[in-house]
Amino acid sequence: MKAIISSEYGSPDTLQFNEIENPKPEDNEVLVKVQAASINYGNLVLLKGNPLLARLVYGIRKPKYTIPGGDIAGTVEAVGRNISQFQPGDEVFGDLSSSGWGAFAEYAAVPEKAIARKPLNLSFEEAAAVPMAAVTALQAIRDKGKLKAGQKVLIHGASGGVGTFAVQIAKALGAEVTAVVSTRNVNLAQSLGADHTIDYTKEDFAEQEQNYDLIIGVNGSRSILTYKRKLNNEGIFVNIGGGGSQLFQTMLLGPLFEICGNKKISSFMQSPNKKDLEVVRELIEDGKVKAIIDKIFKLSEAPDAYRYFDEEHLQGKVVLLV
Ligand SMILES: NC(=O)c1ccc[n+]([C@@H]2O[C@H](COP(=O)([O-])OP(=O)(O)OC[C@H]3O[C@@H](n4cnc5c(N)ncnc54)[C@H](OP(=O)(O)O)[C@@H]3O)[C@@H](O)[C@H]2O)c1
Repeated sequence: MKAIISSEYGSPDTLQFNEIENPKPEDNEVLVKVQAASINYGNLVLLKGNPLLARLVYGIRKPKYTIPGGDIAGTVEAVGRNISQFQPGDEVFGDLSSSGWGAFAEYAAVPEKAIARKPLNLSFEEAAAVPMAAVTALQAIRDKGKLKAGQKVLIHGASGGVGTFAVQIAKALGAEVTAVVSTRNVNLAQSLGADHTIDYTKEDFAEQEQNYDLIIGVNGSRSILTYKRKLNNEGIFVNIGGGGSQLFQTMLLGPLFEICGNKKISSFMQSPNKKDLEVVRELIEDGKVKAIIDKIFKLSEAPDAYRYFDEEHLQGKVVLLV
């Protein structure tokens, strides 16, 4: 089969498009014929081996997972002896980032727990755009953010992979949503259901009167103190992503604020799981959430896709068509 191979840490130029042997599913694995895959920030970490701490998991000197690719959508080709939930022909989607990666290839042998049935109303390209970004948004809003219907939510960085799902999922859970985006993404945020939009090139949410019950920092570029000031009493800030300083401040000051006051500043790490993939699938099949795709590349164009993703100003997701 054809696959993208990453045998050393570095830039997208290190990726090779090679012919290798097809994987064979173990007894507890499903062989998926990959139709589409997508790129997330984790792909950049695995590509570059940076931050260095990640090498404790991904390999110290070179990547131990040589076929990258977390998000996957495809058709079940064969199943191992112990597989009961899937059979050949089933259309599936999932996130392999916690189970050995391997989606940037024509076939992937994947554990049953990493995949779920693909939403009926999505193409393979759309389904591949969903798993990590949507599950991240869901867990940050529902679990860390403890969102209740009717609450006011600010999504800072609402137009990229995670942000577009965050707006829709917060709406689906009954929130009044304010999306912070740049000018060209105001219409996109409104089309996803945002009740209010703030164009960060013209206005500063921190200077406005409105405070929020929940602030989701998807690309949180402001100081933690600013986010804290903009929370209502009992409000929660969840730091999904942004600069290193936000992450550092959140980890250092978050526990302190929790002891000293009634506002919560939380760091967050998503955890891929089948149950939440199924929650997301239901939201999609109910018409409450859709996938936004910025650009589709061919598998052989993976280095270009990584470079494009790394520009950080996407409208939705970057997808690889296999
Ligand atoms: N904690 C976790 O478990 C977890 C999981 C997945 C992802 N993440 C993190 O989540 C973040 C977003 O991931 P993603 O895949 O959604 O990335 P992405 O698609 O590249 O996000 C880009 C978006 O961020 C917006 N943006 C960039 N700078 C901004 C700024 N200063 N203010 C407001 N918006 C800004 C861009 O909008 P404009 O073009 O309008 O600027 C663009 O829509 C990353 O930092 C990633 O590391 C964390």
